Amino acid sequence: MRFRFAFLIAATSLVGAELTLPPRARLRVPVPPPRTALPAGKTIEIKPPLGLPPVPFPDDNPPTAETIELGRKLFFDPVLSKDGTVSCSSCHDPKSALTDPEPFSKGVNGSRGGRHSMVVLNAVYHPTQFWDGRVITLEQQASRPVLDPLEMAHSLEGVERKVSADPGYIAMFAKAWGPGRITYDMIAKSIASYERTLLSANSPFDRYYYGGDKKAMNESAIRGLDLFMQNNLDAPNCVSCHQISETSATFTESRFHNTGVAWDTKQGRMVDPGRFNVTKDKKDMGAFKVPTLRNIELTAPYMHDGSMKTLEEVMDFYFDGGRKNPWLSGVMPHHGVPTIPKEQQAQAKKDLVEFMKALTGEIPKNAQAPK
Ligand code: HEC
Ligand code: HEC
Repeated sequence: MRFRFAFLIAATSLVGAELTLPPRARLRVPVPPPRTALPAGKTIEIKPPLGLPPVPFPDDNPPTAETIELGRKLFFDPVLSKDGTVSCSSCHDPKSALTDPEPFSKGVNGSRGGRHSMVVLNAVYHPTQFWDGRVITLEQQASRPVLDPLEMAHSLEGVERKVSADPGYIAMFAKAWGPGRITYDMIAKSIASYERTLLSANSPFDRYYYGGDKKAMNESAIRGLDLFMQNNLDAPNCVSCHQISETSATFTESRFHNTGVAWDTKQGRMVDPGRFNVTKDKKDMGAFKVPTLRNIELTAPYMHDGSMKTLEEVMDFYFDGGRKNPWLSGVMPHHGVPTIPKEQQAQAKKDLVEFMKALTGEIPKNAQAPK
């Protein structure tokens, strides 16, 4: 049966190749939009600031000035949401380094999800997107909030229709993508190209560590960096997960970890399964992506559920060895961080916080809404 089916397909495609349609029938076949659009303009180079690696981009979406400008307009435009009230920037607010000061963001009709908004600055470097890494690229990510019933609650066709009815957008799409029908593929790629320009570094840490400016960080931050880099389980061990390389630092990595944030000790259950939802592998229960620490001073509250208000609270959490649960990561520091004598721990926590404050970098101008 299967064989016959395969044979049939082979036979039809053979016939199809030789078949010539009469001219009128050929004319009636609608021209499908290209499955994947290519930018019409000239590719430009995005230069990362001191401390960040080169900017990766896919072959079918090289950045151009026109797609970036278009993506910026779309990012700040509530046209993407069903009722025209919510834009990407509603939850990724330039006033809060492109995240949301509320633990859970408000979507259309005031609905709220169960995870804290993430920082879009430097997101292009993350090996995966979202707290559970359920998509890989910024292009894939850019349709999810539109479809999420708690966020923008729209459809991709709905967005295409609205944008295609706006003369301002028609002109911008024609310049960025060439003439023809506007597709969500173009919208997603434009937003992704804009996000590739949302780079923030050249912080005091970068100037100290990569720029050779020994005065860029104060004494306390320098001690904090030293503690941060001590990678064994009896020490703070931060760098094992929030990684720093010899030439650049994204403060994240490709593994997911259970630090215990999602564990409800009283009820003895995992409130959010995290990465497990994606892999269905028990070892990923309660594991989350390692978030960047760049600009961390500006992006409270912390963790995937926004449950920690201050960096001091986060330090107490790590010095306790995280929250004990059956799936706790084997890379978490041991309870009590034994290599630091008890009487020095308060100062050590202060130094680590001071180091994290040295990670506040320059926020690019185009992180603001377009005029
Ligand atoms: C209603 C609030 C809301 C809106 C609107 C929204 N986001 Fe988000 N965004 C979030 C939340 C919450 C997360 C984390 C969700 C999760 O991990 O499950 C997130 C995650 C992301 C991430 C992943 C970053 C990372 O480090 O993994 C990117 C990129 C992003 N959003 C971009 C966008 C873009 C582009 C738009 C508009 C098309 C948008 N967001 C609209 C709330 C929102
Ligand atoms: C086992 C890997 C691991 C280690 C070790 C680790 N972290 Fe984390 N860190 C994570 C993960 C995963 C999260 C997100 C957890 C969540 O939200 O459930 C996180 C979250 C954070 C946050 C909140 C970020 C935000 O945007 O909300 C801060 C701040 C932080 N870590 C600092 C540190 C410091 C400082 C150290 C060393 C004392 C450290 N981390 C050690 C994996 C790690």
